[in-house]
Amino acid sequence: MGKAPVLPEVRALRYSGQMTQESEKKLAGADPDALLTRAYELETPDQSLALYRDWADTYDDHLEQGLSYLSPRAVAAVFAEYVDDLGVHILDVGCGTGLAGLAARGHGFERLDGIDISPEMLEQAGKKQIYSSLIQADLTHPLEIADNTYDAAISSGTFTHAHVGAVAFDEIFRILKPGAVFACTVNAEVWVENGFGPKIRELTRRGIVHVREIRPGAYFKGEDAIGRFIVFQKC
Ligand SMILES: C[S@@+](CC[C@H](N)C(=O)[O-])C[C@H]1O[C@@H](n2cnc3c(N)ncnc32)[C@H](O)[C@@H]1O
Repeated sequence: MGKAPVLPEVRALRYSGQMTQESEKKLAGADPDALLTRAYELETPDQSLALYRDWADTYDDHLEQGLSYLSPRAVAAVFAEYVDDLGVHILDVGCGTGLAGLAARGHGFERLDGIDISPEMLEQAGKKQIYSSLIQADLTHPLEIADNTYDAAISSGTFTHAHVGAVAFDEIFRILKPGAVFACTVNAEVWVENGFGPKIRELTRRGIVHVREIRPGAYFKGEDAIGRFIVFQKC
């Protein structure tokens, strides 16, 4: 069997930046290589749940130490280029521990909800006290959220290897209001296999979305730009 692709969102596990004593203590109990191997092998929502259950407590330290994880801040920055109204009600899709929400708050956006499959990641997000509501749900299934609920959405690191595919776009655009901007990352390595091109073309053809921009970008400092930062607008 060939070498499994490195999940870019977890390459930062190998990054050794400046750590506080508290971070070092927490990370001493975690095995980054084991988490990485599991991330390579994710196939089902249950496996994803188990991975993030074990990772939630150390996730921010692994990814943020040394400021190597760019994706959440980059998504928030792209979003802020397109949205001036700081009062918009934003859904953070696959919010995890809340890093993208935190970055959006940094731009002045204050009305945030988060959605994620992992209760443990959501618990960490809750500790940041930046979300009005945190929803546990599988994005690959119908969502119990009414049509046209949100003014906008952001998503960092969720559309990637064995996480969430393009199938989730139907539900995301259903719950967004007409005119809503959705800024997200899609890992270019799964673009073809997870059907992003055909799904985006279909949504465009049906008059559901307009693609404002697709910008290549790096998930991590010093790495190739294998992320695609996409800005959609619901028609
Ligand atoms: C790499 S993390 C990104 C978290 C955060 N947005 C960030 O940039 O740090 C991917 C997130 O997607 C969530 N996820 C994976 N599969 C999912 C699914 N089917 N439905 C909802 N969330 C899912 C995971 O629980 C995890 O929190």
